[in-house]
Amino acid sequence: MATVAPQEGIFGRVKPLDAILATAEKKGLHRSLGAFQLTMLGIGAVIGTGIFVLTSEAAQKAGPAMMISFVIAGFVCAVAALCYSELASMVPVSGSAYTYTYAVMGELLAWMVGWALILEYAVGASAVAVGWSGYFVGLLRSWGIDFPLALASGPDGGGIINLPAVVIALLVTGLLILGTKESARFTSALVLVKVFALGVFVVLTLPVLNGAHFTPFIPNGWGTYGVVGAAASIFFAYVGFDAVSTAAEETVNPQRNVPIGLIGSLLFCTLFYLLVAAGAIGAIGADPVRSAAGAVLAPGSAELTAQCNAITSGGALEPLVCSKEALAHVLRSIGYERLGDLMGVAAFIALPSVVLMMMFGQTRIFFVMARDGLLPERLAAVHPKFKTPHVVTAFTGIVVTLAAAFLPVGKLADYSNSGTLFAFAMVALAVLVLRRKDPNRRRPFRTPAVFVIAPLAIAGCVGLYLNLPPIAQLVLIVWGAIGLLVYFGYSRSRSHVGRGIFDVPELDPDAPPNVGVASLPGAPAPGTPGERP
Ligand code: ALA
Repeated sequence: MATVAPQEGIFGRVKPLDAILATAEKKGLHRSLGAFQLTMLGIGAVIGTGIFVLTSEAAQKAGPAMMISFVIAGFVCAVAALCYSELASMVPVSGSAYTYTYAVMGELLAWMVGWALILEYAVGASAVAVGWSGYFVGLLRSWGIDFPLALASGPDGGGIINLPAVVIALLVTGLLILGTKESARFTSALVLVKVFALGVFVVLTLPVLNGAHFTPFIPNGWGTYGVVGAAASIFFAYVGFDAVSTAAEETVNPQRNVPIGLIGSLLFCTLFYLLVAAGAIGAIGADPVRSAAGAVLAPGSAELTAQCNAITSGGALEPLVCSKEALAHVLRSIGYERLGDLMGVAAFIALPSVVLMMMFGQTRIFFVMARDGLLPERLAAVHPKFKTPHVVTAFTGIVVTLAAAFLPVGKLADYSNSGTLFAFAMVALAVLVLRRKDPNRRRPFRTPAVFVIAPLAIAGCVGLYLNLPPIAQLVLIVWGAIGLLVYFGYSRSRSHVGRGIFDVPELDPDAPPNVGVASLPGAPAPGTPGERP
């Protein structure tokens, strides 16, 4: 542990890059991931509720033009990923956006990014749990079991509590506390399940594509409740690619492989999403549902639920925008009953791995923040038997479960997006600042045309944020304000950097032994011991 004179000033507390790199060196995690595994890791983290469920929400806003929304969201993620890649290759350590910001723009902004990442990961995990619940209930229905509505959705969806979402969130929490090592091989198989299921969907729907379903192409215009608003929501479908950069410490030749993993998984997903969206629209249409007065209803609203119920109780085919299991519903509607059920099964077994990944990411961020002294160190306590950070995991689990119990998937995804967009914008800003401040540091990967790409990423994130529903925008502001209170009331005086302590722990003694990407999809079998430099 090195001690140097503390630096002061609001933005002055920077954790030196060299201290961060020394920590990573000491930690000496075994480098075993290659470009292919990283790409698989990215795809595993990315494909989830976004494409399986939120396709309906995007359609409600943008209609068939949700295809443009997918491209817009994918583009913003791609330019953000290029910025991520530069930092991830320079600072190949865990903690992702939080660590990068700490090194470049100081503790306060790093804290705010870490705080925003809680929205990304914890609320994101809740969104995926609720998405999973929709498929679970649909699957039961197809087997003739009607799960009571009161227990299948929160108040906005006409119910009281979303019990399946609660159960899956608790199960995943339990799994994380017990240790996830054993599930490594299983979760990497799940990537294949998801890709295969979406592949089958495309193959079955594209041949029955009806061109008439694509008109009117832009029924609601471009605004917040139109194409760009849909892009801001469907952005959720791409979230998770940053998991690749978190794996930098465990990557062979991260300079080359991390950018390939990031961009590769994004390109793959964008292409796939476009095909899936085209298939869904072409098969059954994507017209937004309107109120009796002709107004477009907000996704996830009680009014939309009521209108959808009115349509289906009249015996009409459930519109795409009403379905909680969009892709399964499309297949069933075009005559593939059994394959629709199988799509449900694929979502049923694969989505929990995304919940796991996001909760895992959350505990990792908490863990690093606690290690830096910004959160109580008790949070980073490791269970003596299971060797997992059980306190922080249980805490995360409770938050995720409560949110999943009562809120609809679309709202949760929007709240999560507001935090993610903030974090991505900060990373892009950090790249620019670092080019100015430290131009000569070795940059194994350089963002091409950085003075175009980084501002584009920032503008893209701000633009999408401004097109989120007002309540989602407010969530980030209120959450940020609480974060500032916590920072100035608690964290600032306890910060290790503020006290002049730069952790370079021997083999990172407080790191839970099985925290690492070994438990994530696409990762090789865990258990390889770390190599000491
Ligand atoms: N991108 C992930 C999903 O869509 C979070 O579920």
